[in-house]
Amino acid sequence: MKSVVIFGLALLTVSNCDNLDADPPKNPKQKHDSFKLALQWPYSSCKNPKLKCRTTIPKQFTLHGLWPQENGVELTYCTTHKIPPGTFGSMKDDLMAYWPNLTTDNFEKSKSFWEYQWLKHGSCSFENLEPIPYFEKAIALVKANNLLSMLKKKGIEPLGQTYTVKNIVNAVKAVTSHYPNVKCIVEVKDGKSTSYLEEIHLCFDDEAKVIRDCPYRFSKCMESQPGSKVRIAKFSSQDDAIFGSINGTAAAAAP
Ligand SMILES: *[C@@H]1O[C@H](CO)[C@@H](O)[C@H](O)[C@H]1NC(C)=O
Ligand SMILES: *[C@@H]1O[C@H](CO)[C@@H](O)[C@H](O)[C@H]1NC(C)=O
Repeated sequence: MKSVVIFGLALLTVSNCDNLDADPPKNPKQKHDSFKLALQWPYSSCKNPKLKCRTTIPKQFTLHGLWPQENGVELTYCTTHKIPPGTFGSMKDDLMAYWPNLTTDNFEKSKSFWEYQWLKHGSCSFENLEPIPYFEKAIALVKANNLLSMLKKKGIEPLGQTYTVKNIVNAVKAVTSHYPNVKCIVEVKDGKSTSYLEEIHLCFDDEAKVIRDCPYRFSKCMESQPGSKVRIAKFSSQDDAIFGSINGTAAAAAP
């Protein structure tokens, strides 16, 4: 590659200096001790009106990201090491299936999602994982941890019914033997708030190999209300229009 300007001393530890940006990283000196695998239920994520979801959405939990942590805190923007050109090509099918950009099914346009995830999160695992192994690791983990089937074993299905957060946590724990994180999204419609299961996070050791308990259990799941229940947004249908807040007709067009 061309000449490389290095501002931060921390960057000197980076072995492969190709593609280094001129900008210094925001948080160069961090060291992760664990990973969080963030998986999203796309039908709930798409209730966020800011996310203008495409019409066909994968019928499985998909990757939001693989996030390095230190003491339970997310590390972000650790190096400005960019993804080498062509990185995504070899993983195209897996990325499109398991790490979809929910707003587009165009491969080129989808790349911004993965690039952003690398820069914000992946860059903090850089001492362990370069970009290609990082993405491969995340894909392997989502394939190995089928949340939909874990939930189904305990009778929890995306049929629009409500379940307690505890039931959801226990269904995952029954298979993984470790506590996940559960994150919800609250939809306010006609003055009524409904909490939907949005993400389930699984936690791993510093090499993203061995599963562990997650340090925090819930987020935005109205957990302060005793026995609070969350809904699992169902596969698209007209009476629970997943695009209701965006476009009332889109849900009917989805399969
Ligand atoms: C998905 O792709 C679009 C178009 O490239 C981009 O604007 C958007 O930020 C991406 N979504 C995510 C979650 O990165
Ligand atoms: C949804 O999109 C269709 C076609 O683009 C449009 O005709 C319709 O008015 C939209 N509906 C809403 C509620 O925005």
